[in-house]
Amino acid sequence: MMLTASDPRSREAATTLPVYAQLPFVPQSATGCNILTEDKRRILDLYGGHAVAALGYGHPRLERAISEQSKTLLFQSNAVALDIRASAAEKLIEVAPDNLRRVFFVNSGAEANENALRMACVATGRSKVLAVSHGFHGRTAAAAAVTWNSDKWYGFANKPFDVEFIERDDCAAAIEKIGDDIAAVIVEPVQGVAGAYDLSRQFLAALRKQTTTHGAMLIADEVQSGIGRCGHFFAVQAYGIEPDIISSAKALGGGFPCGAVLCTEALATKFGPGDLGSTFGGGPIAAAAIVAVLETIENEDLLANVRAREAQIRNSCVTGPVGKIQGMGLLLGLVCNRPALAVRDALLEQDILTGTSADPNILRILAPLVLKEEHVDRLAKALASIPN
Ligand SMILES: Cc1ncc(COP(=O)(O)O)c(C=O)c1O
Repeated sequence: MMLTASDPRSREAATTLPVYAQLPFVPQSATGCNILTEDKRRILDLYGGHAVAALGYGHPRLERAISEQSKTLLFQSNAVALDIRASAAEKLIEVAPDNLRRVFFVNSGAEANENALRMACVATGRSKVLAVSHGFHGRTAAAAAVTWNSDKWYGFANKPFDVEFIERDDCAAAIEKIGDDIAAVIVEPVQGVAGAYDLSRQFLAALRKQTTTHGAMLIADEVQSGIGRCGHFFAVQAYGIEPDIISSAKALGGGFPCGAVLCTEALATKFGPGDLGSTFGGGPIAAAAIVAVLETIENEDLLANVRAREAQIRNSCVTGPVGKIQGMGLLLGLVCNRPALAVRDALLEQDILTGTSADPNILRILAPLVLKEEHVDRLAKALASIPN
């Protein structure tokens, strides 16, 4: 298709770094689970802007929180205490695993992991971090150092600490590699970018046991799996695991950029003024969005909805090109009998947006938590209609 000079795709191509492979439509507005495009298409969004749009689009509670907060107090930094920031921290602690009692606010997933890793190195005085094969943790120096296969684009001459990878679900390797020299193990309980791969309960239990035995920090990267996406506020709660640190972002603000690091009281005692910092982290609008998202998940019983929609997808969507489904909640990987990209494109022709993953055969569903039964029916029908 020839694009006109005024098309946003031409204008972005002329002005921004060419680092994103972009989808072939231009959103103009969005409501509920639907994106309305410039050329009047109405696309069912099962991708949620990389797992961000937890409440879909135009949710009145979130809209109100952001607009009212912007009118009363647009911004103040952490140089002052704020009622709304305290409320956001209290609410996060309320929904988090019981052992996590403290919050450090940041702006993105990579920044959350960057700080989580720094906290672990500082607290233990150690300089080696273990990560899990196929994991993705972000693009900044420390987060990318623990990202599987990041050597392809890492770009820096040196990594900030020693890194070794454990093969995912290899309990013996976890037991062997976690020793007294390890500062932290970082893990996504359900690996998002890898294709919604839910790690085994035994593997996560082995990581928890070994890190505790050896005084290493267990960091759960819940940037993608958290905030209700897996049918629990955090996926570790489904596994019955209490990590020392959780990193959170993406859905945390429902679309308003923000992130958070949650940690234990014991870890918090290792830090004082000046040790960590962020200008925008915990800003009032981000804090208002966090409160609105977490309260809405509770008030609208969205965790139950996520589990119901997961069951419906598992029951109805192993059809057409899909042979198997993995993952948890609405972080699902549809394992296809052909390149997932071809399936994504075929669904998009039917105005349904899904995502690919690092696994070429896995299509990812990262739908808003407000997804409805009729939306899943539409997905199942569209998949069934794709010729085999
Ligand atoms: C599990 C996980 N951690 C960290 C990140 C990085 O988050 P951000 O893009 O907000 O820096 C991502 C992004 O996809 C992610 O999926």
